[in-house]
Formats: sequence, structure tokens, C-alpha cells
Amino acid sequence: MTNFEIAVIAGDGVGPEVIEEGIKTLEALGEPAFRFTRFDWSSNRYKRTGRFIPEDGLDELAAFDAIFFGAVGDEEVQDHITLNNLILPIRRRFDQYACVRPAYLYEGVRSPLADQGPGDIDLVVVRENTEGEYADIGGRVYHQTDQEVAVQTSVFTRHGTERIIRYAFEEARRRGGRRRVTSITKSNAQGHGMVFWDEVFDNVKQEYEDIETESLLIDAAAMDFVRRPQDFDVVVASNLFGDILTDISAITIGSMGLAPSANLNPERLHPSMFEPVHGSAFELIGKSQVNPIATILAAAMMVEFLGQAEAGSAIRKAVAENLGEARIRTPDIGGTSRTVDVGDDIVRRLSQR
Ligand code: IPM
Ligand code: MN
Repeated sequence: MTNFEIAVIAGDGVGPEVIEEGIKTLEALGEPAFRFTRFDWSSNRYKRTGRFIPEDGLDELAAFDAIFFGAVGDEEVQDHITLNNLILPIRRRFDQYACVRPAYLYEGVRSPLADQGPGDIDLVVVRENTEGEYADIGGRVYHQTDQEVAVQTSVFTRHGTERIIRYAFEEARRRGGRRRVTSITKSNAQGHGMVFWDEVFDNVKQEYEDIETESLLIDAAAMDFVRRPQDFDVVVASNLFGDILTDISAITIGSMGLAPSANLNPERLHPSMFEPVHGSAFELIGKSQVNPIATILAAAMMVEFLGQAEAGSAIRKAVAENLGEARIRTPDIGGTSRTVDVGDDIVRRLSQR
């Protein structure tokens, strides 16, 4: 029997509701077995103790096989505080540089885009996750005066840029789908960092002659995610552009509630983290209306990353059946069922396998 130690950070908002469904799903697998250790790191903890993560908390996480994360964001705490004190430090500390966000249009779900059927949208955004526009570098002076200055610096290193682009090409080979990598920049306006990115992309692609390539500007890419999503396979983008594009890709597959995310340290030197793309969704807290499928699909990515391919496909199959049947589903995709009912239905399908 294989056992995995999972650190669970349910976090804020609807995080705890969806994480419970994810845990239920993982437990229904039977094999492998998981042991879950829950951490109460959240905005509530911050409001109580002044810290999101206790001192040395990150050291404690280092020993786990993976981190299963719900959401962060609170109505009473400014977003830049929650994010820069909880999720971003985890992504950086554990060098989770590859943020992998698949978008697949399932049978039984309607895309808001006309004429898109099951499987027509089947892409993955590989988002750089440790530097770029999120590199927490900058400052402000002359606060609250007419002379106030705010500087926010983007950082693109050769090490960081090369490895994420290479990861995207490897991902295109692994998927064996359309075998295509699209690189996204804004090099017409960001003449330093993003021209550099384009150069690195042009170099790395020489090593992958079996993969077709394309370079797009972010504004055109945003349009094309709506106009011709079926043409994309692997899309590689900087931290901020990847963030924006994955909200678009999530909604094109019918709901934010269906989009999972993996924050990977591909070398496995540190634990990787798995979460839904949607955030804390204040408007849904406590209503049991949030769709747990994004989190359940994140759990599938987690077990696959842990080398349990069969368990991963079993979860995906149960999700596909639930969606295909179009009976037990949350309101975001046109149903009236509760979060727990969807979780129960997926667990039932898994237990019957
Ligand atoms: C996401 C979120 C985060 C991000 C926030 C919560 C920091 O929007 O995971 O997409 O921008 O990375
Ligand atoms: Mn986002």
C-alpha cells in the first residue's frame, strides 16, 4: 500500500467547503492511501494572531508529499496582504515555478462560446509562477502627497524563463495532443523583459522540432482564447499574463468551478501544491452552492503528480460521468444540487469501480 502525507490548507471563503469534497474523493480511492494534516493558515488566523503562517511554518510543510490548498482572500483583509503572506510565499519558497492550468470542455457542460462541443477546448496554460510581474519588488515614497511615486518591477531571469518554456515543450510532448506551444508576451510594449522572453523562446524551440510553435501578444491571445480556443494546446505565459488567461480559459469551459491548478516543483525537491483556480468566492460562502469539481480535478492532478496515474484517471472518469449525466450539479452549471451532493456522487462512482 502506498501512503502519502498531504498538508491541507483549506484557507478562506469557500476553501473549506471544497477541500472537504476533495478529501472525500481521495479517501474513496482506497489505494493509494493518504494521511491529511490540516493547517489553519488563513485570514481568520491572521485576524486572531497577526500571522497567516506561524514562524517556521513553511519548514514544517517541507516534509509533506504535497499541499492541498483551498482558497485565500477575505472581505476584511486587503488582497495584497493575504496573497503576499500566504499563497505567494508557498509558491516561491518551494520553487513551484510551473503553474499548470488545464481547461477541458466536458460533455454535458455548455460553453458560453457558440459552437464549442465536448473536447473542442482542450488546452493547458503553463504559467510562470515565481517571478515576472509577481516578483514583489518595488516601493512607494512620498506617501499621500502629490509627489507620491510607486514602482513595481517585473523580473525575468534566464534561469526562470528557460525552465518554464522548456517545461511547456515537455508538457506538449507528454500530452501528445495537438503538439503545439504558444508563447504569450507583450514584447511590442515591454521592450526589455518580454523581448528577452521571446529570444529565450526562439532558442529553446530549436530543441523541439517535433512541436509546432506560435508567438502571440497577450491582447491578441485574449481575443483568440474566445475566438478560436480549439487551436490551442500548450500555452506558456508569464505570471500575470498566465493569471489573466486562465480566468478566460476557465470560463470558456463553462465555469470557474471546473478549473483546477497545479503549482509544481517539477524536480520534486520540494512539495507541490494543488488548488482550484477560483478564489474564496465570498458570495457563495456557507451556501453549499460552490462547485467542488475544480478542487476534485486538482486532487486528480495531485495523485498523478505523485505517480498514481490510474487513480488520477479514475477521478477524472468519475467527474466526466457526473458531468455527462447532467443530473447532480451545482447552480454555476445549471443545477440545483449542493456542493456535498456533487462530492457524494463522485465518491459513489469511485467506490463502485
Ligand atoms: C490565482 C489567483 C492568485 C494569483 C491570487 C490569489 C494571488 O488569482 O491563483 O490565479 O494571482 O496567482
Ligand atoms: Mn487568478
